[in-house]
Amino acid sequence: MKENIIKHDYEVRKIQRQKLLHQNSLLLWFTGLSGSGKSTIANALEFKLHEAGFKTYALDGDNIRKGINNDLTFAPEDRKENIRRIAEVASLMVDAGLIVLAAFVSPYKKDRENIAQIVGNDNFVEIFVNTSIEECERRDVKGLYKKARAGEIKDFTGVNAPYEAPDSPDIEIITDDLSIEECVLRIYDKITPKLKI
Ligand code: ADX
Repeated sequence: MKENIIKHDYEVRKIQRQKLLHQNSLLLWFTGLSGSGKSTIANALEFKLHEAGFKTYALDGDNIRKGINNDLTFAPEDRKENIRRIAEVASLMVDAGLIVLAAFVSPYKKDRENIAQIVGNDNFVEIFVNTSIEECERRDVKGLYKKARAGEIKDFTGVNAPYEAPDSPDIEIITDDLSIEECVLRIYDKITPKLKI
């Protein structure tokens, strides 16, 4: 079947779309434990970028798992598929000229390397939201750590499933002693030069 699929090229290309939008498109990928602050920081960063006139779109684990990926569990193979589909969707959005902010636990190094492959290394910015498990568990905004400790959730990252921290992320934010505003500003300052066309 696959050999009968032939790629079709369209006349309007990424660079033309980027020029029209006055921006270089990128995928900003936030990885970190559940409750580390990925979505909160991504949300505040998107707001700041939007205010500054950039065209953005945010993809978020909890939202995507209610829609396009509602058939997937948290077993390693399903997490791999979760990340692969998001990377493909994000890649289309980057091709469309958008700045995509994606907040997913994405605990496996291999899966994150695959994102860079799909979207292209130059278009991929890995942001490690480094919040200690103790702090995530202390916050426990969704009450999931409590449930996981009680044995009510299997494969819960940080409790009974692994989190493989990035060795050399493009940006690392140690959130324990920083405000949301400080986290956002650090990322904003690092990425804005990359957004100029
Ligand atoms: S990922 O590992 O496949 O990247 P994803 O980011 O989509 O995970 O979803 C994580 C969110 O789902 C968490 O923020 C949490 O709210 C919820 N969740 C439910 N069960 C689990 C689990 N077993 N492990 C991690 N997160 C879980």
